[in-house]
Amino acid sequence: MELLKGKIAFITGASAGIGKATAVKFAEEGADLIISARRIEKINEFADELQKNFNVKVYAVKLDVRNKDEVKSVVASLPEEWKEIDILVNNAGLSRGVNKLHEEDYEGIDEMIDTNVKGALNIIREVVPLMVKREKGHIINLGSTAGHEAYSGGGVYCATKHAINAITKSLRLDLLGKNIKVSSVDPGMVETDFSRVRFYGDEERAKKVYQGITPLYADDIAETILYMATRSANVNLAQVIMMPVNQGNAYFFHRE
Ligand SMILES: NC(=O)c1ccc[n+]([C@@H]2O[C@H](COP(=O)([O-])OP(=O)(O)OC[C@H]3O[C@@H](n4cnc5c(N)ncnc54)[C@H](OP(=O)(O)O)[C@@H]3O)[C@@H](O)[C@H]2O)c1
Repeated sequence: MELLKGKIAFITGASAGIGKATAVKFAEEGADLIISARRIEKINEFADELQKNFNVKVYAVKLDVRNKDEVKSVVASLPEEWKEIDILVNNAGLSRGVNKLHEEDYEGIDEMIDTNVKGALNIIREVVPLMVKREKGHIINLGSTAGHEAYSGGGVYCATKHAINAITKSLRLDLLGKNIKVSSVDPGMVETDFSRVRFYGDEERAKKVYQGITPLYADDIAETILYMATRSANVNLAQVIMMPVNQGNAYFFHRE
């Protein structure tokens, strides 16, 4: 049906997980894509794959969302036709460890806050003015159930996702009258590289997170993001909270 034909979507953190799955869903619907992440070799390979499999244009770029100078220069150097961004999926993010706050390591604190909060803000700061100029656009932030509740061992991550919740709400108010939709999708447990990254590559520990429960998959979130991005012009799905059936909130799960 090509619901996104003629649209340009900018996806951060498109080298894996939810960002990558969203890029595929968008490409299936004919969107041209700006895909970015730090691992440029993965992004370049993925760009080739998308161009081969779908009739879409892809602009692949290395981008660390924590680096505001890099964000500025990447956005400023987009060719003019690529600056007409219709959809921003502000997705790059990560969690590090499950330390209690009083024992948290400083590196993890910086990484989570710099990526999830400041990174998302850097992207908003550079991309949203392009939308304001055109009075057109849709920003979809990746929140989390951790943005609605807090759990022990996830204090910094929960704080970053509470921040995303606040940023989404404030941005929506800031943009009133500009014809720009602001939404967030807030998933619970999704099986991606997320736990592998959280536990610094410890596969066994990562696997345990999903033991006895059927989690959400990246495709489930991508499908929801696509649904949000393709509603009628007058409809903004402001916030979608989604969980696996056996997840009760950010902390409680039923495991078989
Ligand atoms: N998985 C879950 O259970 C879950 C639940 C709720 C919300 N979320 C949120 O969903 C988003 C995507 O996570 P995921 O589950 O898809 O994890 P993932 O598979 O680990 O993917 C994370 C993506 O973010 C990118 N990224 C990380 N740091 C970055 C940086 N500094 N600059 C640019 N890109 C960066 C990674 O690419 P590079 O390493 O190549 O840069 C990767 O493409 C995150 O915001 C996460 O907090 C996840």
